Order: sequence, then C-alpha cells, then structure tokens
Amino acid sequence: MSSETRTYPRRVQTEAGEIEFRLMSQADEAAVLDFAQKLPVHDLLFLPRNISEPKVLSAWIKEIERGAITSILAMKGGRVVGCGTLVRDPWSWSPHVGEIRNVVSSDVRGQGVGRALSQETFALALSAGLEKLVVQMTVDQSGAIAIFEGLGFKAEALLRDHVKDKDGKTHDIVVLGHNVAQVRAQLEAYGVPGAVQH
Ligand SMILES: CC(C)(COP(=O)(O)OP(=O)(O)OC[C@H]1O[C@@H](n2cnc3c(N)ncnc32)[C@H](O)[C@@H]1OP(=O)(O)O)[C@@H](O)C(=O)NCCC(=O)NCCS
Repeated sequence: MSSETRTYPRRVQTEAGEIEFRLMSQADEAAVLDFAQKLPVHDLLFLPRNISEPKVLSAWIKEIERGAITSILAMKGGRVVGCGTLVRDPWSWSPHVGEIRNVVSSDVRGQGVGRALSQETFALALSAGLEKLVVQMTVDQSGAIAIFEGLGFKAEALLRDHVKDKDGKTHDIVVLGHNVAQVRAQLEAYGVPGAVQH
C-alpha cells in the first residue's frame, strides 16, 4: 500500500522493540477504539474530538476513506501502540497546510516510539508536498514539544484556557508551526530531493 510517495508497511527499531508502521483503514476500527479507550483522557485534549467515542472514530474512518486524513498505526506484535495522523483540507484557504496529530500508548512511552512516529508523519507530510505544518498540544506535553522542536517546529501561538476536561478544568494549548517548503528547498539545494520521498 502507498500514500503519496511513501510506501507502507515500514519497520523501525526502538527501545520498545521493532515497530511496524502501516496505513490505518476501516478494518482497524475496533483495534484503534480499544487503543484510544485505554489512553488517559488528558492525553486526548489536544484533539478536536474525543476519539475514545465510537461515533467520533467512525467519522475519522470516513475521513480516511474520503482521503482528507491519512493515519499511520504503530504496531508492536500485532497490537496498536501508536497512531500518527496527517490532516489536510484541500478546499479551505489553507490547502498548503497540514496538521500532525500523534499519540502513543502509555505503556510504551519514553522508549522512542513517539519520536519514530513523529519522524514518520513528518516525512509523510513532506512527501505530500505540503508547505507548512502545524501541531498542537496541551502545554504540559513536554515530550511532544521536545520532539517537534527537534524537527524544527517553533511556537507560533498559545491558546489560553482553550480546552476543558471532563471535570470542567481548562488547559492551555500551544501551537507549533514549521515552514517545510523552506526545508524542501534546502534539501534540494544540497542535492538530496529524493531523501524525503522513499
Ligand atoms: C508525545 C508522545 C507521542 C511521545 O511519545 P513517547 O513514545 O513517549 O516519545 P519518545 O519516547 O520518543 O520520547 C520523546 C522525547 O520526549 C521526552 N519525554 C518522554 N516522556 C516525557 C515526559 N513525561 N516528560 C518530559 N519529556 C518526556 C523523551 O525524553 C524524549 O526526548 P529525548 O529523546 O531527547 O530524550 C506521547 O507522550 C503522547 O502520546 N502524548 C499524548 C498525546 C499528545 O499530547 N500528543 C502531542 C500532539 S502531536
């Protein structure tokens, strides 16, 4: 299976062992729901909708089938341990912008799965020809902020009291952005345009 110019499945070695990345499809609905329902609710606040609700998950699958969303699953021994998503809206005024949304299962955190998944979704976004990428998270997600700053993202906005958890407590959201058109131009200047496509 392929998405844009990147092909799947692909495997990476992490401290959590071998992780396989593959494209998510309708057949994964139950496994992804199970993955989402085991995540701490706080870790889902960066998402526009609560993916641990079956209805939200069904709508997400429809968006995948429509081609508006590409999601990659990180699999370990046949189990979903992470999910990376690239969201685009070609009919909006921001057809050149993509949003990355990543989440990793609590029991494999701190072992490089999040970093590998973020690199994978970043490479997918570059191969899709997007010019700008954004990512957002609650301000306490220091792991996520470290990963994306390492990829060249910079803070662009702080949205105060922007999300409310189930107890009614508000949390701030930080938005990081990356002008990837510049990165692509630099790679081409170095003579490695294919580096992000395979
Ligand atoms: C962000 C997330 C995907 C990272 O997953 P992970 O598998 O733990 O990531 P990694 O093991 O690759 O760690 C990445 C970096 O974060 C750091 N880190 C991990 N957990 C951390 C923590 N609790 N506090 C501070 N830093 C942390 C690691 O030290 C590592 O940096 P290093 O390689 O320089 O040491 C995971 O924490 C998550 O799912 N969070 C909830 C969802 C979310 O907010 N996503 C962000 C929106 S894109």
